[in-house]
Amino acid sequence: MAVDLLLGLQWGDEGKGKIVDVLTKNYDIIARFQGGPNAGHTLEFDGIKHVLHTIPSGIFHKNAINIVGNGVVIDPVIFKKEIDNLKKFDLDIKSILLISRKAHLILPTHRLLDAASEAAKGKAKIGSTLKGIGPTYMDKTGRNGMRIGDLELDDWKEKYRSLANKHEAMINFYDVDIQYDLAELEADFFKAVKELKELTFIDSEEYLYQAQKAGKKILAEGAQGSLLDIDFGTYPYVTSSNTTAAGACTGLGIAPNQIEEVKGIFKAYTTRVGSGSFPTELFDKVGETMGRVGNEFGATTGRPRRCGWLDLVALKYAVRINGVTELMMMKGDVLSGFEKLKVCTAYNYKGGKIEHLPFNIEAENVTPIYTEMDGWSEDLTKMSKEEQFPKALKDYIVFLEKELEVPIKIVSVGRDRIQTIHR
Ligand code: IMP
Repeated sequence: MAVDLLLGLQWGDEGKGKIVDVLTKNYDIIARFQGGPNAGHTLEFDGIKHVLHTIPSGIFHKNAINIVGNGVVIDPVIFKKEIDNLKKFDLDIKSILLISRKAHLILPTHRLLDAASEAAKGKAKIGSTLKGIGPTYMDKTGRNGMRIGDLELDDWKEKYRSLANKHEAMINFYDVDIQYDLAELEADFFKAVKELKELTFIDSEEYLYQAQKAGKKILAEGAQGSLLDIDFGTYPYVTSSNTTAAGACTGLGIAPNQIEEVKGIFKAYTTRVGSGSFPTELFDKVGETMGRVGNEFGATTGRPRRCGWLDLVALKYAVRINGVTELMMMKGDVLSGFEKLKVCTAYNYKGGKIEHLPFNIEAENVTPIYTEMDGWSEDLTKMSKEEQFPKALKDYIVFLEKELEVPIKIVSVGRDRIQTIHR
């Protein structure tokens, strides 16, 4: 079997970019399967930090081809900026970055619709990144969307106009004050489309099929996290795609029986950005310290992330939904210095104890039940092998492996590629 998956198991921002970058040497193809520029995949090497939004995180390695799959939504304007940022590297983008003709396009009016929809929701807003993700996937499932392949047709601008006009009517329907200059947005969009068309468009499902037949190793890269999945996440405070393992099949055209390893990434604690319930969220000094030490600010929006203890109830749910075979624990170093650590192992739910994620995890229904463990004070960031880990960290890892029934294969102890400990 040729395909491994790599997925976030929490509310996103687990560190997928870093791990894809670390693992790319083992693969021939890195293929992103869902989401769009709402994602911010951060990787760091040679002292420089890189943030990717749509482009797969294998792009800095010359050995691999990177594919933007059919399940992804692409904003040409943001894509152009990503490509421009790559120009300083000696990369032959046209041959190492391939884009599915079936991927959908985010139009400027999708972004405006996102803003109008959020403004109309008031306090109930999703906390969207405002990149037009929801409206673009709505047009996809509503069978109105524009795809990358449409750009190769002579009449694509007519199709664009008719969809954008419809969007403008919808924006007017929302009774909110959204200021915009569509002519200016469109000028940027058309310029970016022109550059996008210079890249390589492919029938990616066919390409990936032939690659599998030829024995190539493929890593499918997810975006966001399982708890933001449109079906299995904390609805409605979710994103608009399937972030879980099944999304790799629909977002790339990969058959389920071709999947070998499912690599699940989680932080040693929990974060969330945007609205929605978060049972283990901390509002005290501990949460504030996690945010500061972990530099918990959104890579796409710069918003501060909410922080809290590790939630094993939610994590077990994600492990099961995805069929995770290997775990990767990120940001272990951020937990250094806490005298005691807490891990949520069950919820008090409507007066009883439960160990699964219920339909509604709003704060008034759910109180976390914690297991307390000893913390450690050692700085992990300079450690290069597991033997150097303090005993309390080893105990933390063993406890999690026992609870989750899946081995933790990587422990990350810093942002750089080299701060990665394989077990
Ligand atoms: P949207 O996908 O931009 O519509 O945002 C929907 C929800 O998902 C919001 O709560 C966002 O903050 C969250 N979200 C979207 N993308 C990411 C991500 O890459 N990391 C973390 N949260 C995200």
